[in-house]
Amino acid sequence: MAVFTPAALFLWFFAVVTTATNRLMELRASGLVAEQCHGNVTLLCDISHDKTLKVNHFSWIRMADGETLCTFNDDAEAKKHNRILCKYTDQEQLALTLRHLLPADEGNYTCKLRSNLGIRHTMSAVKVRECFQGSEPVPSSSGVACRFYGVYPQGEVHWFDRDKNVTDKSTADNSGKPDRHGMYNVSSRLLTEDRSREEYNCSLWIPSTGAYLTSTLVRMPVKGGATSVHIVGLVWVLFRTWILIA
Ligand SMILES: *[C@@H]1O[C@H](CO)[C@@H](O)[C@H](O)[C@H]1NC(C)=O
Ligand SMILES: *[C@@H]1O[C@H](CO)[C@@H](O)[C@H](O)[C@H]1NC(C)=O
Ligand SMILES: *[C@@H]1O[C@H](CO)[C@@H](O)[C@H](O)[C@H]1NC(C)=O
Ligand SMILES: *[C@@H]1O[C@H](CO)[C@@H](O)[C@H](O)[C@H]1NC(C)=O
Ligand SMILES: *[C@@H]1O[C@H](CO)[C@@H](O)[C@H](O)[C@H]1NC(C)=O
Repeated sequence: MAVFTPAALFLWFFAVVTTATNRLMELRASGLVAEQCHGNVTLLCDISHDKTLKVNHFSWIRMADGETLCTFNDDAEAKKHNRILCKYTDQEQLALTLRHLLPADEGNYTCKLRSNLGIRHTMSAVKVRECFQGSEPVPSSSGVACRFYGVYPQGEVHWFDRDKNVTDKSTADNSGKPDRHGMYNVSSRLLTEDRSREEYNCSLWIPSTGAYLTSTLVRMPVKGGATSVHIVGLVWVLFRTWILIA
């Protein structure tokens, strides 16, 4: 005859209860969300349950510093951060929106739920894609110059005269240091005396992605006038990658 100690009985009971509650409730969150900096991302955490749910605690936590960004019943956390928005749908979803994405927002976020049907947690990741905020004309007495600001990650300027790469004739003017948000300013001056050309293509190259992020056509200054920059083909495409991990 088998003898069950109280401890063994407890473990058996506990295992049965855990398996049963597993089927009653599940937590599912956005997998990896990639967005350009200066853009907005929303991480969703969805509860699926087939029994009445009583939520005791439901939150989004930033793993980098363990800070709670959103909780289901309190706006106080979100109000401390002006770039964060939280939206709770009763017994269903907690949505965390990060606005004006910064490089420092890249990382993992955990969604935690404590309820009458058990405790669950799941993770989402945010990837901050390359971006630039804008470009502007730079006055130049000899040749042409251009400047991109709010660039991430670090970039460099390449110049083209139609299809000819004339980057060797330019001098870069990068402080090299990012601002406190991790954004760079990149500028370059093209020394040219060739007045027969009207405009040059100033392109922003991001070495870490191996691609041009944007380009602008810079006009040669007319005598005594200022350099004017025409932004051409400034295409701002927002790629949203929503990969849901099943
Ligand atoms: C981000 O959200 C804010 C307000 O919620 C909106 O004004 C802004 O246009 C959004 N930015 C992008 C790039 O969608
Ligand atoms: C996020 O989590 C993944 C795996 O869970 C890990 O490989 C990665 O290093 C984490 N990222 C950060 C920024 O902590
Ligand atoms: C243009 O020239 C620069 C500097 O020599 C070089 O780094 C870059 O790869 C060239 N780009 C193209 C498209 O040829
Ligand atoms: C880049 O330029 C902007 C103004 O366009 C300025 O506010 C910012 O501090 C500059 N950033 C760096 C890293 O120099
Ligand atoms: C400028 O040159 C780059 C690199 O060759 C190219 O991708 C871009 O389309 C050009 N831009 C314009 C406005 O011609």
